[in-house]
Amino acid sequence: MKQESQDRRVRSGTVVSEGTDCEDGGTASEGATSKTSESSPDQSPTTYNLQRPNPKSPHPSHSDEWGFSTRAVHSGFAPDELTGAVMPPIYLATTFQNVDIGQHKGFSYARVNNPTRQVLETCLKDLECAEFGFAFSSGVAAEDAVLRMLRPGDHLLFSDIIYGGTYRLITDLYESIGVSSSHVNLCDLEAVEAAWRPETKMVWLESPTNPLLTVVDIAGLSGIAHRHGGICVVDNTFASPYLQNPLALGADVVTHSTTKYISGHSDVVGGFAATSDHELAHNIGQAQATAGAVPSPLDCYLVLRGVMTLSLRVDKHCANAVEVAQFLDGHPAVAKVNYPGLASHPGHELARRQMGGKFGAMMSIHLAGGHEAAKTLVKSLQVFSFAESLGGVESLVSYPPMMSHSIMACTELAMPEDLVRLSIGIETAKDLIADLEQVLDKLV
Ligand SMILES: Cc1ncc(COP(=O)(O)O)c(C=O)c1O
Repeated sequence: MKQESQDRRVRSGTVVSEGTDCEDGGTASEGATSKTSESSPDQSPTTYNLQRPNPKSPHPSHSDEWGFSTRAVHSGFAPDELTGAVMPPIYLATTFQNVDIGQHKGFSYARVNNPTRQVLETCLKDLECAEFGFAFSSGVAAEDAVLRMLRPGDHLLFSDIIYGGTYRLITDLYESIGVSSSHVNLCDLEAVEAAWRPETKMVWLESPTNPLLTVVDIAGLSGIAHRHGGICVVDNTFASPYLQNPLALGADVVTHSTTKYISGHSDVVGGFAATSDHELAHNIGQAQATAGAVPSPLDCYLVLRGVMTLSLRVDKHCANAVEVAQFLDGHPAVAKVNYPGLASHPGHELARRQMGGKFGAMMSIHLAGGHEAAKTLVKSLQVFSFAESLGGVESLVSYPPMMSHSIMACTELAMPEDLVRLSIGIETAKDLIADLEQVLDKLV
C-alpha cells in the first residue's frame, strides 16, 4: 500500500521546550503553487492539491526555519502585496479566471482549491512537519478521506479505545462495503503482531485515546505496520501538533478534528489530514477534491485564527489539567483518574517522550459512586458545561457511555457506567477545582 522508500523522520525522545519541531525541515520549499497551473475540477487526479508552496508566493511554507509558534502565526501567509493586510483574506470566490485554455493562476474552482484554505493547509502541514496537508469540513470527513484508500477485501486494525464516531465510520460504513476490521489493545504490541492478518492494510490509532487516555507507542506501531507492508494512521486530535507530531515518530498519516484544540474556541467544525508520502497524499487529495467534503473559506479562516494561539492555549490547558488531575487523584469520591500526566499512569513515561514533556488537557475519571454519582456530577457543575466535544477554551464535562461513545453500548467496547470525561479549559485552575469539589464532596 505504501512506498517503503518513504523518507521516515524519527524524532528523538528529548523534551522540547516550545512545541514540536521538525528535525529535518519537513517541507521542501521549492514548488509550483504560485505558477500558472493546469488543474481544473475535471483534471487528472494527479494534480489534486499536491502543490508545494513557493517561498516567494503569498503562501510560504516555513517548517524548516521557524519554531512552532512562529509557524503557527506565519506559515502559509505573508502580508498581502496588494493591500499590506497582515491577516489572510477570506476568499469567497467559487471560481477563478483562467489565463488561457487549461491554464490558471493556481486556483480554478473552490472545491478543488481556495486561497484561504491553502493558507490553512500550509500552516497545519508545517505544524505537523508534513509535506502535504488537506483541510476538510469535519474531523470524520478527514478520516473518511484516509479510509477511502481501503478496498473491499482489505482489513483494518483499530484500537479498542477509540472515538465513537470513528468506530461508527469503520464498522458501519466501511464494513458495509467489504472492508473488514477488528479491534485490539494497541498498547500491547505483541497482541498487535498476532492480530495482523495478511490482508491488513492499515492500523488506526489515537494517542492519548478517547476517552480512557491510554497512551500508544506510535513508533512501535508504525514499525509493525511497515514490516507488514501496511500503514499507520494517527488521529492526533487529543494531543494537537503542539505536543505531538506522529509523522516524526514514524506514522504515515496524521488526522485531526480541527473542531477541537486546533481551532480552540468551539465555534467551527473542521478536519485535517497530512502526510509526507506522495502516493498517500495523492489518494487523500483525490478524495478531498472528488468527494468534496471541504471547509468553507470562513471556516478555514476561523481555524487559522484559532491555530495562531495554539501554543499559548495548550500550555495553559496543560498547566490547569495537571492541577485538576492532582486534586481529583486525592479525592475519595473518585475511584480512578485517567490522565497521562500522573506519574502513576501506565503510559506516563511514553507520553512524556511522545508529547514533549507535556500531557494534554483531556482526562476521565471513574466515580466511586458509579452511574448515579456520574449523573449528579455532570448535571451539577457550574463552571464546566455539560456538553459534547473538547479542546475549547471553556471546560467541558461529558458522559461517554451515553454521548461520544454511545454507539459502543452493548458491545464489548462499551464504556463503563462510572466514567466521566473532562476537557480542561483555560479558566483559572482554582475555579475549576472549586467547581469539582463542591459536587464531589457531596458524593462521598
Ligand atoms: C478523537 C476524535 N477524533 C475525531 C473526532 C471527529 O471530529 P469531528 O466532530 O470534527 O468530525 C472527534 C470528535 O469528537 C474526536 O474526539
